[in-house]
Amino acid sequence: MNILLLGSGGREHALAWKIAQSPKTGKLFIAPGNAGTNTTGINVPIRVTDFPAIKEMVVENDINMVVVGPEDPLVNGIYDYFMEDSSLSHIPVIGPSKIGAQLEGSKDFAKAFMQRHQIPTARYRSFTAGTIDEGYRFLESLEAPYVLKADGLALGKGVLIINHLEEAKKELHDMLGGMFGEASKTVVIEEFLDGIECSVFVVTDGNDYKILPVAKDYKRIGEGNTGLNTGGMGAVSPVSFADDVFMQKVEERIIRPTIEGLKSEKIDYKGFLFFGLIKVNNEPMVIEYNCRMGDPETEVVIPRIQSDLVELLEGVAQGNLKDRILTIDERASVAVVLVSGGYPETYEKGKEIKGLQEQISPDTIVFHAGTKELDDKIATNGGRVLAISSYGKNKEDALVLSYKAAGVIHFEKMYFRADIGFDL
Ligand code: AMP
Ligand code: GLY
Repeated sequence: MNILLLGSGGREHALAWKIAQSPKTGKLFIAPGNAGTNTTGINVPIRVTDFPAIKEMVVENDINMVVVGPEDPLVNGIYDYFMEDSSLSHIPVIGPSKIGAQLEGSKDFAKAFMQRHQIPTARYRSFTAGTIDEGYRFLESLEAPYVLKADGLALGKGVLIINHLEEAKKELHDMLGGMFGEASKTVVIEEFLDGIECSVFVVTDGNDYKILPVAKDYKRIGEGNTGLNTGGMGAVSPVSFADDVFMQKVEERIIRPTIEGLKSEKIDYKGFLFFGLIKVNNEPMVIEYNCRMGDPETEVVIPRIQSDLVELLEGVAQGNLKDRILTIDERASVAVVLVSGGYPETYEKGKEIKGLQEQISPDTIVFHAGTKELDDKIATNGGRVLAISSYGKNKEDALVLSYKAAGVIHFEKMYFRADIGFDL
């Protein structure tokens, strides 16, 4: 079958790499893709939210399945757009409906959903400009630190964790005043949870689900988890503290009630679901849902899937996921992300990337994130540039390989964290 994959990051290169290996895959297109996806399929210069252009491309190229990488098209309703168009409705979109994507698109929606289904999460309340005084009082009832979240999508910047009450009140005022535009017209205030985080992914056809390998990502720019938040500086899988006992609790208390909850509320959800979890006193709680795979987690999760991903996605589309096979590689995998100097603040693009042709271990895969072809060279085209994934008997062995490859690749002002996995 012919497949269109939407997105342009390291996540999409990893998905494209895996999809291209399936005997079921005919032509694979990536929109818009990057210099890496172009080696596993055909890039097409279409924006992920340009639905009319996607429609034209899908019809012209006889596409049989659309796999959605990032949240934007999902939150904007690409699933519903296909369902409601008679020339597209027979083509499965791997991703939730617009309302299902609200699990990521609205923190308030997600928290209320969890409350309705008794899914463990931090105690919370939501406020708007009209209820700001109640918001101040709610803050007074909590203990520091204070967690304030813009309700809507805010490019990963919408969560503030603040140590002082007066500052938290001021930030609440500013957020409701439009600090994140529409996204912070509603603000969720919640109790601070102290624990260690991990990312759990499932793929679901709306009835059944399969749990993918668990991962942990490293979001802060600096070593020892310091400095600004980024899209993600590295990842590891498996995660030592997410043992069988923990994962059983996750499945019983979080995954199953979520899938059952979606079903009972008649919310169409056929795709990936990402649970951002925190382990507090040995118990799992949900920090957030995302309606897609994580990045850079995908660059460690996908390499550990041994079975055919397209076979699994076909099960999602046809509603017979329970009959499909998922086998996992026992080896560990890690990803080290090479970023442009200055990221996550301002940085330059267009720097030539050298060393990509050098011999690296067969157990290492270089996934492209922010890259593009420039004449006959490959150049940087974003903050996160490459994710170097490696396999190993354990994460330490895998990290040796990724750091070795990082030593061979170079671009001006390149930076990476040398401590991925340090806390496990
Ligand atoms: P989110 O976008 O909701 O995942 O929040 C971003 C990050 O903020 C999370 O990965 C956590 O590290 C942190 N965070 C969010 N909510 C809480 C909470 N209730 N308690 C502690 N940390 C939190
Ligand atoms: N790595 C976290 C995310 O994709 O949101």
